[in-house]
Amino acid sequence: MPSQIAPPPRLLMGPGPVNADPRVLRAMSAQLVGQYDPVMTGYMTETMGLLRGVFRTQNEQTFLVDGTSRAGIEAALVSLVEPGDRVLVPVFGRFGHLLVEIAERCGADVHTIERPWGEVFTPEEIEAAVEMVRPAVVAVVHGDTSTTLAQPLDGLGEICRRYDAILYVDATASLGGNDLATDELGLDVVTAGLQKCLGGPSGSAPITLSERAVERIVARRHTEAGIRDADEEDAAGRRIASNYLDLAQIMDYWGPRRLNHHTEATTMLYGARECARLLVEEGMDAAVERHRLHGSAMAMGVTGLGLEVYGDQRYKMNNVVGVVIPDGVVGDDVRGEMLSDYGIEIGTSFGPLHGKVWRIGTMGYNARKDAVLTTLAAFEQVLRRAGVPVPAGGGVEAAHAVYAA
Ligand SMILES: Cc1ncc(COP(=O)(O)O)c(C=O)c1O
Repeated sequence: MPSQIAPPPRLLMGPGPVNADPRVLRAMSAQLVGQYDPVMTGYMTETMGLLRGVFRTQNEQTFLVDGTSRAGIEAALVSLVEPGDRVLVPVFGRFGHLLVEIAERCGADVHTIERPWGEVFTPEEIEAAVEMVRPAVVAVVHGDTSTTLAQPLDGLGEICRRYDAILYVDATASLGGNDLATDELGLDVVTAGLQKCLGGPSGSAPITLSERAVERIVARRHTEAGIRDADEEDAAGRRIASNYLDLAQIMDYWGPRRLNHHTEATTMLYGARECARLLVEEGMDAAVERHRLHGSAMAMGVTGLGLEVYGDQRYKMNNVVGVVIPDGVVGDDVRGEMLSDYGIEIGTSFGPLHGKVWRIGTMGYNARKDAVLTTLAAFEQVLRRAGVPVPAGGGVEAAHAVYAA
């Protein structure tokens, strides 16, 4: 008989997931209620309201897609994109490639513009591509954790409206720790996850949709035969290719019709609601500032150890820093020793950056001074043992200087 689940204590300082806030874990240990119990539907409605605060939106259609962040992305794209639609994806890291791959699976005619990893686009570059491609949907990642950079979103909403394109943003890694005001920026659809700056486990994907996005999706509503009203007609638009991720049906489940679709993942909903409560209680500006402070302390700390930070720092995400692995050092050995000797997890990188860059996160519950200082202190010891000539106390001192400023 395998033993009960008893994971060792870990400090998760990678690019996410990070340790969940204890308040979220407590909420998730509560007993289940039935799917249509007024308590449950009440929690669902409250979660919608709290998430509007997190996304900074008035959008009525703000709710959860059950599944990891990727389910939110797929739900958005499969519901927005009809086969043959032109979709423009500005790619500046791994997750841009993911948007391309998902849009292609939706049958889209996908066009891309690319930047080398470590850089982002100017709004003018994106506008020129929109003007040329005339896409139905522009799909862009906000914070691409693979490169640790955030694409500035200012102006993109206005550009997309001018060219009558829907603007979809993957804010999985940025929401809660970096400025993202959905309505002010004119973003049509934004999706996220819980496991980064929201301080929860992965498994639930918050989403918000503007009126224009909702209109486009409702024009494709084909409700399942077994639950539709006797006189209900299909919308004229093409049926959405996925049943599970059909946002037209999911909106009817979360909305006043309460039309049965999936069985809402009760425990994940408890967790997501607490994540949102934490952020709304703290205030979104304060949460972003907390991520900026601890992210800066970590970045200055690694610089204080004599290491180089990766990418154009003007566009660095607040919540994760890329660290160039010194020549001759095996990145995975250092990560292994951080974990085995100190119980601290830091991240590797994907694709062209694997073996070249570590990624260290400061987000959600772990955007805290003690987590930053503990990580830097351990990192110094592990690097020294790996033969890197690190200045004694250089990391912790540099971080302290940020906190003292
Ligand atoms: C920007 C971005 N998009 C999408 C994902 C995929 O999220 P998930 O693993 O929750 O499906 C991640 C995960 O790291 C991410 O950072």
